[in-house]
Amino acid sequence: MPKSRKVVQTKILLLNGPNLNLLGTREPHLYGKDTLPMIERRLAARAKAAGVTLECLQTNHEGVAVDRVQQAKRDGVGFIILNPAAFTYSSIALRDALTAVQIPFVEVHLSNIHAREPWRAHSHFTAVAVGSILGLGSRGYDLALEFAIGRLTGSAGT
Ligand code: DQA
Repeated sequence: MPKSRKVVQTKILLLNGPNLNLLGTREPHLYGKDTLPMIERRLAARAKAAGVTLECLQTNHEGVAVDRVQQAKRDGVGFIILNPAAFTYSSIALRDALTAVQIPFVEVHLSNIHAREPWRAHSHFTAVAVGSILGLGSRGYDLALEFAIGRLTGSAGT
C-alpha cells in the first residue's frame, strides 16, 4: 500500500476586519502610527524569509470575510492571523466559518480590549482561537506570524 504523504501547508492568511484600513490615522493613541500597508509589507518580508506565503485581506464587509475564510480552506491555507476588529463582538457568521474550516488561527488586537469599555472585553473568537495577542500594538501581528511560522515549518518554540 502506498504511504500517505503529509501535505505541508505553508500559506498564512492575514485577515483584518472593519476600519483597520484606517490604521495610522485612526485613534493613534489606541492603535498606533503604523499603517496597514506598512504592517502587511513587514509581515510579507518576514514570511518570505521564512519560506512561507502570506496572503493579506482587509475588509469592512462581513460576507467578504466569511467568503475569504471559506476560500482559505480550498487554497490550503494552514494558519490564519485574524484581527476581527468590530466583528469581534458581532460576527457569529465569521466565527462559524472559522470553526467550519478548522484552520487554526490566532486572534490579534492592537489595543488591550480588557482595559477599555466593558463591552469590548468579550470576544466571540477567543474560545475557538489557538490563542490571543492583545495590547501590543502592531507588534502583535509580528508575534502571531512568528507563532504561525513555527507551527507550519516545525521550527522551535511553538
Ligand atoms: C481592535 C479592538 C476592537 O475593540 C475595535 O473594534 C477595533 C480594533 C484592536 O485591534 O484593538 O476595531 O480589534
